[in-house]
Amino acid sequence: MRTQKIYEDIKKLLKEHHQSHLLTLWDQLDMAQRQNLLAQIRQLDLAKIDDWVANCVKNSASVAISGDLVPASFYSPCPADPQQHRKYAGAVELGRELIRQGKVAAFVVAGGQGTRLGFDGPKGNFPISPVKNKTLFQIFAESVAAASLKYQAICPWYIMTSPLNHAETIEIFCSNDYYGLDEENVFIFQQGTLPNFSTDGKILLADKDRLSCSPDGHGGSLKALYRSGAIEDMKRRGVEFISYFQVDNPLINIFDPLFIGLHALDKAEMSSKAVIKNSPYEKVGNFCLADGKLTVIEYSDLPDELAEKRNPDGSLAFKLGSIAIHIINRAFVERLNTDVFSLPLHKAVKKIPYIDEHGKLVEPAEPNGVKLESFIFDAVPLASKSIILQILRSEEFAPTKNVAGIDSVETTRRMIVARAAAWLESAGLSIPKKPDGSIDCVLEIAPGFALEKDDIKAKLNRIPQIKPKDRIYLS
Ligand code: UD1
Repeated sequence: MRTQKIYEDIKKLLKEHHQSHLLTLWDQLDMAQRQNLLAQIRQLDLAKIDDWVANCVKNSASVAISGDLVPASFYSPCPADPQQHRKYAGAVELGRELIRQGKVAAFVVAGGQGTRLGFDGPKGNFPISPVKNKTLFQIFAESVAAASLKYQAICPWYIMTSPLNHAETIEIFCSNDYYGLDEENVFIFQQGTLPNFSTDGKILLADKDRLSCSPDGHGGSLKALYRSGAIEDMKRRGVEFISYFQVDNPLINIFDPLFIGLHALDKAEMSSKAVIKNSPYEKVGNFCLADGKLTVIEYSDLPDELAEKRNPDGSLAFKLGSIAIHIINRAFVERLNTDVFSLPLHKAVKKIPYIDEHGKLVEPAEPNGVKLESFIFDAVPLASKSIILQILRSEEFAPTKNVAGIDSVETTRRMIVARAAAWLESAGLSIPKKPDGSIDCVLEIAPGFALEKDDIKAKLNRIPQIKPKDRIYLS
């Protein structure tokens, strides 16, 4: 009786919002299925959905580019003059102190799957290290453990999953005994989802009693951190700074005293690391000042004349690429969530299987639907202050995205070896090279052996002489 009343109300509401098709298969559902479907529909904010359909689903999601777009200023990897030298030194000291005081937490967004890698399961479980074949999760866990030991501090680690991989991620951590970390200090939580739409704005069904939904993008992390209790947990621990990174980058320097220190010294709310783009159209976001506000403009939205624009010395005018590494203040996330905030939604047209009006599963051969996502970098303009630290790609950024080619498993492994070789060479060791200058051995440095280049010097007596074709693992 009660279900019938709710059904009637919802039917009316759906009609007003042009989503009546969601109840077409009502007569084929048993009681439990009916309740299940109604519960999902009641959670939808249909007024908001009308707005998304009109502005994001049916329209192509073109981003309004401000008339006044200029390149953003940034800190270089090395200080430019004696004054900046002093500032960097002070920042490193401050950063180390903040880590020591337990004020910095690691945060990885790991809601995506390894689909582009042809890998079944959470991407964090992808084996990547060149000698030991450690997974991305294991490398991060060892980095967190090494930072904890180095700074004699608790370094909590927050991991955002999605409904696509939450249970599996938990299972991976449990079966690996949390990679030796204290389970107390690892907080795994799920991000939210958004409904998927047909291109004409109808919410798709994944089953007769289930709406088709997808993770709401890494921008969803700002709400998920708050709703999951992660922010509350940080507050209890005294965490003030969140070190945000993506699951695909094994070179990440999670606890970077310089970055944390510059961010804190400059009283920023959300800061970013950047690389110098290797071409005008490299597929990374562009840091720009839009009417004076720091903003990230996706490569697809930056007008060609700006992408191509050069400085007098020939370098790109808009040369700073976003690599999805941020320091975010815990208080900033709290502030956003206690005000009303939303990030813009970006549209992706995809092949989305669905149940048609006859109850049959359709597996489209061509893109048929729209997924909506928000992006973390759209929060940058909401911050009261934001800095950018340019870093060297070879030191900190080797994303594993594709099976072959650019940003692939092979390029990532090669970069892990190259960085290890550079660190060892900087400590005075010699690395075997082939006649063409390429490295002639395979090297892997465990985070517990060295987190940064400077950690090597104290371990020189533990490093064997390296011969051509050697496979060396330093731990
Ligand atoms: C992203 C950035 C790009 C940046 C590049 C660096 C976007 C649109 N682009 O590209 O600017 O230069 O990384 O490597 O983000 N994730 C979730 N939940 C989601 C969606 C994604 O947790 O709903 C996580 C993934 O697990 C991954 C990260 O976000 O850790 C990035 O997702 P991915 O789709 O791989 O981003 P890219 O398009 O490669």
